[in-house]
Amino acid sequence: MKLLICGGAGFIGVNFIEYMLGAHPGYNYLCYDKLTYAANPARIRELCERHTNLRFVKGDICDREGVYSLFEKESFDAVINFAAESHVDRSIEVPDIFITTNVTGTGILLDACLRYGGVRFHQISTDEVFGDLPFESEYAFTEKDRLNPSSPYSASKASADLLALSYHRTYGLPVTVSRSSNNYGPYQHSEKLIPLMIKKALKGENLPVYGDGRNLRDWLYVGDHCKAVDLILHKGRAGEIYNVATEKEQSNLETVKAVLSLLGRDESLISFIKDRPGHDLRYAVDCSKIKNELGWSAVTDFSNGLALTVQWYSNRFNKEDI
Ligand SMILES: NC(=O)c1ccc[n+]([C@@H]2O[C@H](COP(=O)([O-])OP(=O)(O)OC[C@H]3O[C@@H](n4cnc5c(N)ncnc54)[C@H](O)[C@@H]3O)[C@@H](O)[C@H]2O)c1
Repeated sequence: MKLLICGGAGFIGVNFIEYMLGAHPGYNYLCYDKLTYAANPARIRELCERHTNLRFVKGDICDREGVYSLFEKESFDAVINFAAESHVDRSIEVPDIFITTNVTGTGILLDACLRYGGVRFHQISTDEVFGDLPFESEYAFTEKDRLNPSSPYSASKASADLLALSYHRTYGLPVTVSRSSNNYGPYQHSEKLIPLMIKKALKGENLPVYGDGRNLRDWLYVGDHCKAVDLILHKGRAGEIYNVATEKEQSNLETVKAVLSLLGRDESLISFIKDRPGHDLRYAVDCSKIKNELGWSAVTDFSNGLALTVQWYSNRFNKEDI
């Protein structure tokens, strides 16, 4: 199998490539990435040096000619699209690039898949497309629930999902979509909650927490997400959406306290700051479908995953500024 992995130099993409190289060593991989501020070019270089079946091409999914010429040269069996602008706070400041990359870019990849023989397409999406739930609710969104995104980021991801699913319905393109909860693990940019808190705690700086820190999140270890995408790619049904999460929730404050505890730092470092506009209260998705159909469930316990993550950033912090 020859796979095109768009956005493969980003946090989840780089972990996915490493996972796939181990799980399917006989496949060929091409990582296509624009290398924005969020990318890990050094890690991709290392992986390319170690694995002759992995190649890297720097490019933009919004560059239609560039994408088409890549598809013309290579004969891909499947495309997995991780490429995106992914930070909610940035989307509130500058929504435009989110619409361009996340919507137009996904549309161009879908067009290429259609034009070059109906290539299998998997879209990496987020549980944020459902919007949030009240704190007191016990409901968890299923794949059938309506989309109700809150931020320009989640609205752009919801748009991309709809576009991808429409290419299945209209043109019969073999498309799947996965909607995962918040990921954590190695190689995530330090603008995101867990790496940011680790970095601040290691430096002995204040840890900024939005509002009162009560917002509930479901934290998925990135390795568990990679396994889910592998299963969906091979066994998922075309035209279907799969939720991917741990189905366990905790407040942002609990997460920040867990980081401080692992690093032996005092909770007095926590500093509550003005809440994010439109801040989602509670995310929860029901994962019965992927459990029942594909036999997937998250196996990494949060305390183990966080310990691995804190260890990884601490080692890196000693070598270079994170
Ligand atoms: N991180 C999470 O917690 C999370 C949770 C659910 C879903 N997702 C989704 O998973 C995907 C990957 O997320 P991530 O956290 O790894 O993001 P990331 O920001 O770490 O990485 C995104 C990657 O896409 C690349 N990219 C951006 N614009 C591009 C373009 N125009 N052309 C080609 N490459 C481009 C960047 O260079 C980067 O390498 C995203 O689609 C995101 O919406 C992320």
